Amino acid sequence: MRLQSVSVLFLCGLLLPLTGITASNDPHSHARADLVRIQHLHLDLTLDFSRQQLHGHADLRLQRLQDQVRELVLDTRDLDIRRVQAANGDDANWQTVSFRLAAADAILGSALHIDLPATADRLRIDYATSPQASGLQWLTPAQTAGKRKPFMFSQSQAIHARSWVPLQDTPQVRFTFTANLHTPAGIKAVMGAENDAADQDGHYQFDMPQPIPSYLLAIAAGELQFQAMSERTGVYAEPALLPAAAAEFDDTENMMQAVEQRFGAYRWGRYDLLILPPSFPFGGMENPRLSFITPTVIAGDKSLTSLIAHELAHSWSGNLVTNAVWADLWLNEGFTTYLERRIVADVYSQRRADMEAVLGWRDLQQEMATLDAADTRLVPDLQGRDPDAVFSSVAYEKGSLMLRWLEHAVGRDAFDTWLRGYFQRNAFVPMTSERFLQDIAQHLLAQHGEVSRAQIRQWIEQPGVPEFAALPQSDAFALIDDARGQWLSESMATTQLPVTDWTTQEWVYFLNRLPRDLGTERMAELDRAFRLTASGNNEIVHSWLLLAIANDYVSARARLRDYLVSIGRRKLIIPLYEALLETASGRALARSIYRMARPGYHPLAQTTVENLLAAAQPN
Ligand code: BES
Ligand code: ZN
Repeated sequence: MRLQSVSVLFLCGLLLPLTGITASNDPHSHARADLVRIQHLHLDLTLDFSRQQLHGHADLRLQRLQDQVRELVLDTRDLDIRRVQAANGDDANWQTVSFRLAAADAILGSALHIDLPATADRLRIDYATSPQASGLQWLTPAQTAGKRKPFMFSQSQAIHARSWVPLQDTPQVRFTFTANLHTPAGIKAVMGAENDAADQDGHYQFDMPQPIPSYLLAIAAGELQFQAMSERTGVYAEPALLPAAAAEFDDTENMMQAVEQRFGAYRWGRYDLLILPPSFPFGGMENPRLSFITPTVIAGDKSLTSLIAHELAHSWSGNLVTNAVWADLWLNEGFTTYLERRIVADVYSQRRADMEAVLGWRDLQQEMATLDAADTRLVPDLQGRDPDAVFSSVAYEKGSLMLRWLEHAVGRDAFDTWLRGYFQRNAFVPMTSERFLQDIAQHLLAQHGEVSRAQIRQWIEQPGVPEFAALPQSDAFALIDDARGQWLSESMATTQLPVTDWTTQEWVYFLNRLPRDLGTERMAELDRAFRLTASGNNEIVHSWLLLAIANDYVSARARLRDYLVSIGRRKLIIPLYEALLETASGRALARSIYRMARPGYHPLAQTTVENLLAAAQPN
């Protein structure tokens, strides 16, 4: 990888001055998007659940930026490329062309080199995916809620689309797409595109008229039904989950109106949610028109719906204005975290938004303490590194803190006007930190001397959080600190804790700041009074189990096992494994639980846990 990029750099250095071409600068793609670009993708794929494989063809319509180009380089990972054909215009005379699949790079996968005939502007690639495709998970019926039908779904961000479609897997290339998918009886396929909600006949057609980057390409299939929530929002889920999901998320339309009113029109037509099985490794994924959502946020009281606010907000920050390279992830996630909290304040309350901002800030502080200083910069150096391995809350929470600081410095009205314009000016365009700086200098700072470019540069380029940041505060949490303090000093009895009105956020804050050496006696007191081990709220249970591990509270052990075996969402499970790995008995337990849990985990989650286990002491 290192060697390769050195030689590429060397070649570019040699060629560029001669040709005047700017090479594409995405270190996570083999594509030369400066020479040729995919304009439109058409997929015709069969979903083979018994082989855990997609097979069929991908048609690419190409736009040449250079007449002399005779080669197209695509990204692939573990794909079986069977044949490549070329054609020109509407001509259906497919002509077989030669191709070469280069040796796989551990991070980037294999470059597919295709010989491009002089006039060809269309390619057809016959291929099949591997059961190990890093961007797909195939689930058996037993791993679903209904237990009757298998399920499959994609997770393409950051660089996994290449494991299920041969393409230019870089956010710098956008394409429209259409697709035909074929499934076994009783299995409905959906995509991040226009879906026909009622269709159940085994042959599904999709159309995505807005151009998207490859990481937003999404597919899922299973025993799915649809329920509308408003005219333009709805939920796809397994039948058993559908009513609860539709009730939990019925604020989605209100959230859309809240963003539209402040930051401009929703540009994607419908906005639906797809509820995935609990092995989905993320909380959510902002696939356009159809966000993919973990079922672990269906709490029954809408207390975890900021996830929906987050994925919805990506319809502006990320899906419209898109990070050009993965090092600039904060342009997607920092903006989105900022917007998420604005939506929560508008639709629920400022009080809830403040609590969530404080929890986010605490997560950031804790995580920064474990990171190399260089990786606490908003824009980390990803050269030669896997974006999955560098993923942290820095892009999210530090990015959001910077925007919050800007808002406070220039005033909300000026800030909102700038942000609305930023989305409009840069819609469907790749964004870099440098271009962000230009945009804000020209459209906000020029009129507002309160902030300097140097301060913004400090946010972007320096480690940690600047001392002039506007840190979030929560009055509600001050009361929790009070109650906790009194309970710990035993000036307040367990039964006197004022928990009646505590929201999920207050419980999480209460638990997260309890001492890790509380002792099993006091753990048992809390458990008896508030039934925490038995709580159905996955965030509260997560905080409780972390405390249980540290305190070796064995009564929660069965719950811990169930939790880790039934949930595959990384944010919920990884901290638990990390806590277990701190002691010898915990390590043994972690290994035995993981043996049971592994078959149900997504490839991404498997890799993360296995890296942790491998780095831990043997015992
Ligand atoms: N786009 C992200 C998920 C992602 C980021 C996948 C980077 C791969 C690489 C999604 O919008 C997200 O941020 N999900 C969070 C939601 C949370 C912050 C509300 C998650 O899954 O935890
Ligand atoms: Zn996000």
